Amino acid sequence: MHDQAAQLRERLQRSAQGRSTRLVTVTSGKGGVGKSNFTLNFALGLIERGQKVVIFDVDVGFANLDVLMGISSKHNLLELLEPGRTVSDIMEKGPNGLEFIPGGSGFTQLMHLDDEKLDTLFSRLEDLQGYADTILFDTGAGVSNESMRFMLASDEVLLVTTPEPTAITDAYAVIKMIHSQNPKTNIQLVINRVSTEKEGKSTADKLSLVAKRFLDMELTTLGYVADDAIVTKAVKQQKPFLLTYPHSQASKGIRDLVNSYLRVERKQPDAVSGIRGFLTKMKRFIR
Ligand SMILES: Nc1ncnc2c1ncn2[C@@H]1O[C@H](COP(=O)(O)OP(=O)(O)OP(=O)(O)O)[C@@H](O)[C@H]1O
Ligand SMILES: [Mg+2]
Repeated sequence: MHDQAAQLRERLQRSAQGRSTRLVTVTSGKGGVGKSNFTLNFALGLIERGQKVVIFDVDVGFANLDVLMGISSKHNLLELLEPGRTVSDIMEKGPNGLEFIPGGSGFTQLMHLDDEKLDTLFSRLEDLQGYADTILFDTGAGVSNESMRFMLASDEVLLVTTPEPTAITDAYAVIKMIHSQNPKTNIQLVINRVSTEKEGKSTADKLSLVAKRFLDMELTTLGYVADDAIVTKAVKQQKPFLLTYPHSQASKGIRDLVNSYLRVERKQPDAVSGIRGFLTKMKRFIR
């Protein structure tokens, strides 16, 4: 009991020292548009700028962030239910101080846990409050129940699409779905695999226009990443492209996106934001 109180105090002190955590879900309509590559390299871009970043791999079906980094993860979210486990026990170390939590099949099982277990799990995740500047959730494509819960519970949603018409219509379907659940969701567009900046802009404009016109929803454009052969090369080498090809077009795009992300005023922590607010909302969506 005493231990817990001490831990809680320490946690509160840490967040009182001013580190508020931005919780960001990365998602897409169509699969394979580059979410995981974006998440990983964007995280490393934030680290370059001095942020502490944790990635949660919540792609239930095809968790593969570890493969992109050339490491094999040994842990699973549900290990947090074992006595004495803390969130730091299940974190994997990536390059440059990047930390990530493999979800694996843990996330589907989350929905089936009894209340007591869910409380235990969530209270252990609460330790992340104030630990990182940004927590990124890499989700699967489309509007599965799991990824929807993350989108609705997080502070920001980064919606990745390519300029392909099919990717754009699928992205719009996600926007519509999010809008029907919470029209105030902060959605920011990431246009991946663009041939020119103009193509990126016209893709973002198309989506923003229809969202405004039919849903009265304002979308922000975070930026564009070039279609660049080094991305596939880096995937094959199992090394993040921002590190192996730092001067490539794709890396330049990622850095621009990092700049726009950091330029946005960060929300002040309050009773319902941050990890605690996120977990409260998650719980509501699970039950
Ligand atoms: N900017 C880019 N330029 C060139 N190729 C890219 C780019 N981004 C992604 N790709 C290609 O697309 C493939 C799929 O990327 P990634 O695994 O990141 O997509 P995803 O959206 O996470 O997929 P899933 O929906 O299956 O989770 C990569 O292996 C790479 O070959
Ligand atoms: Mg992926």
